[in-house]
Amino acid sequence: MTLNNLLFDGIGGRVAAKVMARANRAAELEAIELLDPAPTDAVLAIGFGPGVGVALLAARLPNGHVAGVDPSKAMLAEATRRNRAAIRQGRVDLQLGAAHELPWESGRFAGVIAVNSIMLWEPLPISVAELARVLRAGGRLVTITHGWALRRRFGTLPRWEAAIEQALTAAGFYDIRHGAARVEHGAARTMCAVRSQPDKL
Ligand SMILES: C[S@@+](CC[C@H](N)C(=O)[O-])C[C@H]1O[C@@H](n2cnc3c(N)ncnc32)[C@H](O)[C@@H]1O
Repeated sequence: MTLNNLLFDGIGGRVAAKVMARANRAAELEAIELLDPAPTDAVLAIGFGPGVGVALLAARLPNGHVAGVDPSKAMLAEATRRNRAAIRQGRVDLQLGAAHELPWESGRFAGVIAVNSIMLWEPLPISVAELARVLRAGGRLVTITHGWALRRRFGTLPRWEAAIEQALTAAGFYDIRHGAARVEHGAARTMCAVRSQPDKL
């Protein structure tokens, strides 16, 4: 059993989903505010967990579309329960999967959000390249991540910034910005990047 299974699937995952639904709502909201999508945009949520960010996005995009991917069956069940009506209306599409292999066509999305999940992406460069593929030119990626989780994965925050900048630049992103999030009293980190126009690749 992997650490991911242990933390996010089975009984542990069901408990974690309840805790995260409350604890991480403000971070999901902040990521959506930073992305600032238009009401008709298609937006992808990576590592949607209990589906709170998906629900907030669906409310914000009455004439748009929300897709999400997460490798945990427990999270998929919880997020599906939370977004049942919007899924039935065809406004939300949730899939079991992971960032490195996305089941959508190239250029499908205007934006991507990922809250507290980028530290789990394996391999990071392939996952970032997959995001570049599904984003349209000029589309934006916004992540918010616990500072402690980034330190645990990358060692230090400067090393996180170097690793993600290398992966993003190689995948054709530009205008990469890091910051302190409003949530967690500034201890969580924001990261925004723009998908290049084809002539910048
Ligand atoms: C800490 S939870 C965060 C969930 C939610 N975004 C939140 O902040 O409450 C991390 C989520 O990322 C998912 N995850 C793990 N590995 C992933 C991967 N490679 N690609 C996408 N999601 C992944 C987990 O299953 C879990 O639901």
